Amino acid sequence: MLEIHFGDNLEVIRAFPDGSFDLIYIDPPFNTGKVQSRTTLRTVRDSEGDRVGFQGKRYRSVRLGTQAFQDSFDDYLAFLQPRFEEARRLLKPSGSFFLHIDYREVHYCKVLLDLIFGRSSFFNEIIWAYDYGARTTRRWSPKHDNILWYAKDPDNHTFRYEDIDRIPYMAPGLVGEEKAKRGKTPTDTWWNTIVSPGGKEKTGYPTQKPMAVLGRIVRVHSNPGDVLLDFFAGSGTLGEVAVRQSRSCVLVDNNPEAIAVMKRRFATFPDASYVGCEGLEPAPAVRPGDVEPGQARQLL
Ligand SMILES: C[S@@+](CC[C@H](N)C(=O)[O-])C[C@H]1O[C@@H](n2cnc3c(N)ncnc32)[C@H](O)[C@@H]1O
Repeated sequence: MLEIHFGDNLEVIRAFPDGSFDLIYIDPPFNTGKVQSRTTLRTVRDSEGDRVGFQGKRYRSVRLGTQAFQDSFDDYLAFLQPRFEEARRLLKPSGSFFLHIDYREVHYCKVLLDLIFGRSSFFNEIIWAYDYGARTTRRWSPKHDNILWYAKDPDNHTFRYEDIDRIPYMAPGLVGEEKAKRGKTPTDTWWNTIVSPGGKEKTGYPTQKPMAVLGRIVRVHSNPGDVLLDFFAGSGTLGEVAVRQSRSCVLVDNNPEAIAVMKRRFATFPDASYVGCEGLEPAPAVRPGDVEPGQARQLL
């Protein structure tokens, strides 16, 4: 089951009964003060095109579309607080809550979540570290996101240790052949590249998160058949990961462009159903080679 709702998440999730979900992951706008926007271009061969590429061939850029959402809140915590409270209410007793945020707001959110869930329910701050994009010369370049994990019941919650993927040792020569072959479990710092701008996974939606990062959360913190919720769904990454791992998922977003992207992303998912999404058409397809404007010139 994969159910996609269009609307303000507080209104939508208030209607769900207590204890409906085994795992809730949310990735709210980070309050960057900007409009998060991404335009996707496809370059096509055109003898009249304005760009000249390899071997003098001419190209023109076709704009596939721009997706955007507002990322600015006067009182960010007042916006989040009732949504965090709902998340706790909606979790089953053995459920877990994951908040994906960044360095600007994580400390305030941690204090707020400690009040709502209790400090003993806090288990980890996972650092998702990546290394992509421009660097600043004015401070250490921020290249990580913060993911806070709270379990509703600190003594009884799903944690499938055996399902944790293994990663290579940094110095395999020091641990012996067998251990080196098996690899080690990751720590609370997860190195994973961002969604590659030219890769297969890309939907064109701004701030799309990688399936590998969400996949690890779903695999370890829920069981097959469980019901998951993401009420800041964006391009629907949690939904895709959930279905691929035999879980069910409910997704909510209030941006028509997010619904359009999800309709395209889930077009071949037989169990996808939509609530309040009438009249919103699927977004045009993005192909692996499609790029963002800044990249177009470099690729020619
Ligand atoms: C950071 S994006 C989520 C990206 C997502 N994790 C992905 O992988 O594509 C945050 C999303 O929250 C949505 N959003 C913001 N305020 C909302 C609200 N009040 N109700 C529902 N969705 C909201 C935005 O439209 C945006 O799509």
